[in-house]
Amino acid sequence: MPQQKVKVGVVGCGVVATAYYLPYLMRMETVDLVAVCDRYETRTAATARLFGAREQYLDYDDMIDRADIEAVFILTAPGTHVPFTLKAVGARKHVLIQKPMATDMDDARRIAAAIREAGVKAIIEPSSNTLLDPDTALVHDLVKKGVLGDVLWFSLAWTGPAIYGPALGSNPYGQDAFYTKDSGGFLFDLPYAPTQIVSALGPCKSVYAKATIGVKEADIVPEEKYDEFLASVTDPNRANYWDVVVDLPRTKHVQMEAVDQAYSLYEMADGSVGTCHVGRIYHPVLPGTGGGGLQVFGTDGNLLFGAGYTASIISRHKALLPHVDADGWFHIPARGDASRAKWPQPTPGAFNYYHASTQHLIDCILEDREPIVNVDWGLHITEMMAGALESSLTGERYDMTTTLASHGTGDW
Ligand SMILES: NC(=O)c1ccc[n+]([C@@H]2O[C@H](COP(=O)([O-])OP(=O)(O)OC[C@H]3O[C@@H](n4cnc5c(N)ncnc54)[C@H](O)[C@@H]3O)[C@@H](O)[C@H]2O)c1
Repeated sequence: MPQQKVKVGVVGCGVVATAYYLPYLMRMETVDLVAVCDRYETRTAATARLFGAREQYLDYDDMIDRADIEAVFILTAPGTHVPFTLKAVGARKHVLIQKPMATDMDDARRIAAAIREAGVKAIIEPSSNTLLDPDTALVHDLVKKGVLGDVLWFSLAWTGPAIYGPALGSNPYGQDAFYTKDSGGFLFDLPYAPTQIVSALGPCKSVYAKATIGVKEADIVPEEKYDEFLASVTDPNRANYWDVVVDLPRTKHVQMEAVDQAYSLYEMADGSVGTCHVGRIYHPVLPGTGGGGLQVFGTDGNLLFGAGYTASIISRHKALLPHVDADGWFHIPARGDASRAKWPQPTPGAFNYYHASTQHLIDCILEDREPIVNVDWGLHITEMMAGALESSLTGERYDMTTTLASHGTGDW
C-alpha cells in the first residue's frame, strides 16, 4: 500500500523555517512538501531550490486559495500569526503555529474558536518542555506521583539561548520577529518559561507581574545578510543561520517597542507560588549563578534543572524514583552527556522540538488524534504571558480564565 502523505505548505521562509522545519519536512516519508510562501522572492526561490517545494507564492492568501495543501506551517513573524491562522483554518487546513500564538487573549480566543469550529488539528509551539519531550514527561509523571510532596514554591529565570554569546544578550537579527510592538518582545519570545512551569506543576491560577522595557535600543544584523547566507547554502542540512549570524556585524539600529523583561509571581492550582523572570543577560555569569533554571521545592523533595543535568530530584520517597546515586539524587543526564547512552530512559540523543512538533502534527493528522501541544495548551500558556502584561499595566492580580481541563490528553 502506498505511504499516505500529508500535503504541506509553509509560510515564512525565514530562519526558523530553513534551520529546522524545512530540512525535516523534506525528508519525511509522510509529507509532500507542496508549497512555500514568503513576501521575498529570494527566499521562496532559495527554499524551493534547497528543500524541493514544487510551488512558490509571494502572497499568502494566494497560497491558501490555490495550492493543493492540507496543512500549513505558519513560520512568519508574530504579527501575522493571528490573521494567517484564521485564513488557514477558515479553509479547513491543519496548522502548526510558531510562537507566540497571539499577544492578547482576544486574539488567542479567536484562533482557538476557529480551530475548534473547523475541527482541524493544531499545534501551538513551542513543544519543548512539554509532554512531547520524554524528559519532561518523566519529570511530570514523578511530580504527579508525589516525589515532591506538597509543592511549596519555585523560581525560574529564562534568559534566552546561550548562543547569543555572553556579551550579546539580545537577539542578533529579526526586527519583526522580536523587536516590533506586535512581536510582543522578549516576553512573548519566551513561552518556554511558563511552559516549563506548567509541565512540571500543572495549571496556573493567577499572576502578579511587572513588565518593562529594560534595554530600549539594540544593534542587529541587517535583514539582507540572511538572503546572502541563503544564496550561499548548497546543503539543505546546513542552512542554520544561527551558525553564522552571531558572528556577523550588527550594523542596524532598532528600537525595542515591546516588553523585554518581565518578572511574574505565579500562583498555581496546586497551591504553590513562584517567580518567573524572562529577559536577557548582557554579560557573563559564573557557573551556578545568574539566570537560573527551574527550581521547585516541596515538603518531600526538590526538583532542580541545571548544574550540568537536564533535571535532578531528591526525595524522601526514593522508591518512586527510577534510581538514586550514593548522595540520594536522581539525575536525568544532560543531552549529549556520554552517560546518557547507558541510561535506560528516555532515549538518548537530542530532542529537537521543531522536528518533534512536525512529526507529531503529521502523525495526529494521519491517525486522527488530538495533538498534545494543542489549542487548550496554547491558550493557557498565552494567558500566563498576556495576564502578566495586564497585571503589570493595572497593578492588580490577573486571575486566569483558562484551565487545562479540556486539554485532551486526560493528563491534567
Ligand atoms: N529563529 C529561531 O530560531 C526561532 C526559534 C523559535 C521560534 N521562532 C519563531 O518563528 C517565527 C519566525 O521567526 P524567524 O526567526 O524565522 O523570523 P524571520 O524574520 O527570519 O522569518 C520570518 C519570515 O516570514 C516572512 N514574512 C513576514 N511577513 C510575511 C507575509 N505577510 N507574507 C509572507 N511572508 C512573510 C519574512 O519575509 C521572513 O522571511 C517567529 O514567530 C519566532 O518567534 C524562531
